[in-house]
Amino acid sequence: MGVRFTGWGIGLPERIVTNDELSLTLETSDEWIAERTGIRERRIGGTTRSLGAEAARAAIADAGLTPADIDFILLATTTPDRMAPATAAMIQSDIGATCAALDINAACSGFMYGVRVAQGLIETGTRRVLLIGSEQLSGWVDWTDRRTAVLFGDGAGACVMEFSSVTNDLISSTLGCDGGAAEILSCHHNATFTMDGQEVFRRAVRAVVESSEDAMAKAGITADDIALMIPHQANVRIIQAMADRLSIPMERAVITLDRYGNTSASSIPLAFDIARKEGRIKPGEYALVTGFGAGMTWASSIIRWS
Ligand code: UT7
Repeated sequence: MGVRFTGWGIGLPERIVTNDELSLTLETSDEWIAERTGIRERRIGGTTRSLGAEAARAAIADAGLTPADIDFILLATTTPDRMAPATAAMIQSDIGATCAALDINAACSGFMYGVRVAQGLIETGTRRVLLIGSEQLSGWVDWTDRRTAVLFGDGAGACVMEFSSVTNDLISSTLGCDGGAAEILSCHHNATFTMDGQEVFRRAVRAVVESSEDAMAKAGITADDIALMIPHQANVRIIQAMADRLSIPMERAVITLDRYGNTSASSIPLAFDIARKEGRIKPGEYALVTGFGAGMTWASSIIRWS
């Protein structure tokens, strides 16, 4: 008895912005961005609402359901379109659902926080949860600041999580937060993102390694059992450092930041989509899904596909 992931979908703007295009207006280069981050291009456009609705429709169809079958909508976002109402409410209306709808914000860890919240809802009687990660970070980036502008992109990913009486895909989870680190990555009202990149980097590696170890210990498995690692897509050097410390070969990591950049709460569901399309998600195998973000927050889960 437990939780099953039954459908996935994505929503991406059409417009691709390459590193070369950014270097026309910023003192930067494709070489610097690719070498220091792994990012080569990102998608820009749409709104948190429009991208989220697109991903939501695709996930519901992929699960073989209709919007009327959804009992709860959770939207993980750092960039809601408005202060009120919640962007989840507007997506609910756009897709033609009638259930409860709520935004959650744990920055880039938001989707994995959402997985845990959805699990709690399902364990207490909610049958089907639509979990969306959607971000329009381009609206909150200082396009004159090369230290942050080159990192972020827009996009959305969604999944349907359902109660199952025969199986459980979500084996363990670890969530954490250190609100004392709020100032190292922050965005005030009517402002843009500011970041102490090196400090975020240092803390991120520590947080994802420790929480991954904790999630594996709770699941009773070791790094050797991990067939697939789905990390938050911020910097390929963070993913490499994490893989090294956990002794998980880099070939097992899913990388999407080269084409989408850092899409915050959307990065993990977008990576799930790529992993699925590449045929890398296999029944019975363990995946480590792990992220970190502003807060600072972090979250790791062990998933075994049924
Ligand atoms: O979802 C969570 C979000 N954030 C993160 O995960 C960010 C974590 N941090 C990082 O990914 C890296 O720290 C960055 C990619 C942000 C920066 O890379 P770095 O290797 O830590 O570079 P740095 O900050 O030490 O800067 C090195 C140099 C500096 O020049 P000087 O002072 O040595 O002359 C920067 O001004 O690189 C310069 N620089 C750039 N140069 C060209 C910074 N950004 C750029 C740029 N293009 N875009």
